[in-house]
Amino acid sequence: MIRSVITGTGSALPAQAVSNAELAERVDTTDEWIVERTGIRQRHIAGEGETTSTLATEAARKALDAAGIAADEIGLIVLATATPDHTFPATATQVQHALGCGTGIAFDVAAVCSGFLYALATADSMLQTGMAKKALVIGSETFSRILDWEDRTTCVLFGDGAGAIVLEAREVETDGPGIIATKLHADGEHKELLYVDGGPSTTGEVGKLRMKGREVFRHAVVNLADVLREVIGDAGVAVEQIDWVVPHQANARILDATARKLGLPAEKVVVTVDRHANTSAASVPLALDVAVRDGRIGKGDLVMFEAMGGGFTWGAALARM
Ligand code: ACO
Repeated sequence: MIRSVITGTGSALPAQAVSNAELAERVDTTDEWIVERTGIRQRHIAGEGETTSTLATEAARKALDAAGIAADEIGLIVLATATPDHTFPATATQVQHALGCGTGIAFDVAAVCSGFLYALATADSMLQTGMAKKALVIGSETFSRILDWEDRTTCVLFGDGAGAIVLEAREVETDGPGIIATKLHADGEHKELLYVDGGPSTTGEVGKLRMKGREVFRHAVVNLADVLREVIGDAGVAVEQIDWVVPHQANARILDATARKLGLPAEKVVVTVDRHANTSAASVPLALDVAVRDGRIGKGDLVMFEAMGGGFTWGAALARM
């Protein structure tokens, strides 16, 4: 069978890391409050010259190196972001140009924190139908630029960064590597719980992130546990067979609560929220790259990805490395 196989991963972070203590100098908060409620200890914040496309390009270049393929072999780039360099063109086209990928398909998807899952499922379907043979799937964000730095209930939670994978269509055995199942959902009813209060067609301004954290938390735990069960069911695997879960890094308490609901041991969950905070669409591929490079996730491992974000949108995917 033809499957989309993950053959390389890469990530990029802005140079500047900001600790909770440093943040507490400009916002009415404390290291203790942030660590206890979220597990976050620091986040990276983009500086001058660092943008969603520059971070995405660096992450993609590392993923290409890891896969051992040249940029001009890439026929498809799907880039997930809620913080594009410009309203248009798509940031993916700027990454395509910067990498020298030629003139294949390149576009952005907007599904906020679950954007990487949407991008992964889209690229997987396009590889399955033969629209391209090799793809870059990227999540990249500069959320620091849409945060209200006067609002302590949101600005402490997010960070900037990018993660990328190379996906290649390959003929494999049933128990071979590749994306095994994906599941996506959206429900526009809860827009007011997590949104940006601006946009080109409404205010004409970029706007700032607004969130009712407690309600988002409640929905996240229920939706994530449900979609994980769906994917496990579709793939016909038992929870015990999963080697690693690479979740969206929103909050350590959401990660714990979701793992507990599913009966997944905490040791199988990759956690980077302490170092990166919530990097939205970048968080899953960033965490994956960390765990691949430190040797935890290796060839043959069964890995579950999951995320939920504004919209609401949510999704999960199961892959064998
Ligand atoms: N520092 C100090 N105190 C704070 C801060 C802060 N940064 N922020 C809020 N507080 C105060 C509040 O003012 C409130 O004080 P009060 O009781 O005197 O009114 C108190 O802390 C509790 O506030 P809550 O909002 O009820 O705190 P909660 O325990 O719900 O934690 C949090 C807030 C961390 C945002 C939590 O609700 C959460 O993680 N929600 C999930 C949201 C999320 O991660 N969204 C990301 C995108 S969606 C996704 O990725 C799943």
